[in-house]
Amino acid sequence: MSKSAELAALVQSRAGTAAPRLGLILGSGLGHLADEVEGVAIDYADLPGFPHAGVSGHNPKLVIGDLEGVRVAVFGGRVHYYEHGNPAEMRLPLELLKALGCESLMLTNAAGSLREDIGPGDLMLLNDHIAFAGTNPLIGEPTDARFVPLTEAHDPAMRAGLKAAAEAEGVALPEGVYCWFSGPSFETPAEIRAAKVLGADAVGMSTVPEVILARFLGMRVAAVSVVTNMGAGLSAENISHEHTKAMAPIGAAKLETVLRRYLRDLAGTA
Ligand code: HPA
Repeated sequence: MSKSAELAALVQSRAGTAAPRLGLILGSGLGHLADEVEGVAIDYADLPGFPHAGVSGHNPKLVIGDLEGVRVAVFGGRVHYYEHGNPAEMRLPLELLKALGCESLMLTNAAGSLREDIGPGDLMLLNDHIAFAGTNPLIGEPTDARFVPLTEAHDPAMRAGLKAAAEAEGVALPEGVYCWFSGPSFETPAEIRAAKVLGADAVGMSTVPEVILARFLGMRVAAVSVVTNMGAGLSAENISHEHTKAMAPIGAAKLETVLRRYLRDLAGTA
């Protein structure tokens, strides 16, 4: 049995066999939503082989249950490339989702904005990305499935659903391009200027590997950034992990409003 099938059997023995309709990965400072799901919580430590999210501000558990009438599988935290240097660290969690029968994935993250009209506390819906970190989670994958097309990696239907949910709730949800830097150091002002020239609207240290892995696994995927700061050099505010964690809850409240609406809308469809 594959590792993901073993994990799926373990998870299903505790949470039941019904397939989650949506997987949700929560970013830095956004993990508390996992505690609002009515369902079964499993610590990552109880899932053999599961990568441990070692970053403060994450909530390292998988919760499977009901949110706004939709069965969801919520990851309270993720591992980042910068923790181990392996861009494929999130492969097993995503394979587990797939093995549970989940077809759609929503990613969230904290990010720095490069746009004047998107500031701290605002949301941004990813419509594309740049893998500026220069690596790829499918390096070493031996099958032809590794040649994943990414032309519409960020699912148009999920994006439309999120836009509609945001509009219904009166939350601004501009779309933009997310540029993945490896971290863990923040960017320099010169790197931020470079990212702007390249067409990026926001920068962050996650999400892109998971988008690629989700497409590889045949899952639909969408991602939303919670902006915690302006990119380095674009404002006088200081940039730090403490600042990220302090600012995240402001955008997180908006994100939760949009996500709950999205799920209620989803619950109304077959
Ligand atoms: N850069 C990279 N990652 C981030 C930032 C940033 O400015 N803010 C929150 N996560």
